[in-house]
Amino acid sequence: MNDFRPGLEGVIAFQTEIAEPDRDGGALRYRGVDIEELVGTVPYEKVWGLLVDENLEPGMPDPEPYDPASLTGKAPADLQSETARLSAVWDLQKLVDIDDEQAHDDLARLSAQMMSVVAKSAAVHDGREPAPDDVVAQGRTAAEKFLLRWRGEADPKHVKAIDTYWICTAEHGLNASTFTARITASTGADCGAAMSAAVGALSGPLHGGAPARVLPMLDEVASTGNPEGYVRDLLNRHGRIMGFGHRVYRAEDPRSRVLKRTAKELGSPRVEVAEALEEAALAALRERKPDYVIATNVEFYSAVVLDVAEVPPDLTPAMFACARVAGWAAHILEEKRTGRLIRPSAQYIGPSSRSLSAV
Ligand code: COA
Repeated sequence: MNDFRPGLEGVIAFQTEIAEPDRDGGALRYRGVDIEELVGTVPYEKVWGLLVDENLEPGMPDPEPYDPASLTGKAPADLQSETARLSAVWDLQKLVDIDDEQAHDDLARLSAQMMSVVAKSAAVHDGREPAPDDVVAQGRTAAEKFLLRWRGEADPKHVKAIDTYWICTAEHGLNASTFTARITASTGADCGAAMSAAVGALSGPLHGGAPARVLPMLDEVASTGNPEGYVRDLLNRHGRIMGFGHRVYRAEDPRSRVLKRTAKELGSPRVEVAEALEEAALAALRERKPDYVIATNVEFYSAVVLDVAEVPPDLTPAMFACARVAGWAAHILEEKRTGRLIRPSAQYIGPSSRSLSAV
């Protein structure tokens, strides 16, 4: 076997009809529709419908009443464990034993409930009781309801920030967490198992955890007023500048463009320092890696937009998970339809045959 590709870069593992980043054109389309057309036109829950059902209607349902077992206030660990627990509480059946319609219903219930769990975990984190269902029911959109459940109020600016962020990050082809969801689904496991596995994969800083590390960078640059020096020191220590680089895009990440515009529209006080850091980072990365295009990725301005909504940095991976329930659900259904177990090969490069005494 001589075609090993570290990180599976460029390896085509699936065919998908859901979405795929347009690598060179810097666009992202969900079922063919550009995200630029969706943001501000339809709310997130309708985008869920577009991705999962190729139809805006009925979209993602409201969550049903449910009491999480014991929330620690640390999302996404709460989200991962509660999602796995729902498999047992709702007695979800294995994907191999149910039809597509049942799998769809399980995924719709789970998606809505996962958002609710994150809102409740965030309330626990803040030391308050999540708002009761009658308060939440006053919200018109999923973003409004999420904020009402978390804080008991939904500032329109915060709603716009979260809705835009969720739409921009709802789906992105075969990223690590979606791959994980598909692998789990391909074994015929239930939908709760596939969704909770995806949450675990998303929690790492190289995938969904980067925004949590962007705000501290912005704070440091704001305090020194020296973005070039900050970037130089970080790169000299072989550190990674969070919010830059992408395995797929070799052009501007279209999501970054939408989120930057939104941050400006919402009057974020951090835009100025973010633009200064972005300029310094891109210049330094161009100089050090002239043959490798490293551009601003979705996480950089996500951090700024989520900051407008007063989302604390340690909650950002769970906010990403809320958005990605749409992409995961769509891919789990697509995977179920292929019905083929995912089982790649590894090239063995360890010691040749030897006796135990040689170890
Ligand atoms: N800061 C500094 N250097 C970076 C970098 C960054 N943000 N992104 C890539 N590089 C460098 C790597 O250090 C590596 O250099 P080397 O060859 O001297 O070791 C080279 O560019 C290639 O990196 P690699 O990790 O192989 O590229 P990739 O395209 O697979 O990486 C990411 C994609 C996202 C993992 C990577 O760009 C990264 O770690 N970014 C920061 C984390 C982040 O923003 N994650 C959110 C992604 S949406």
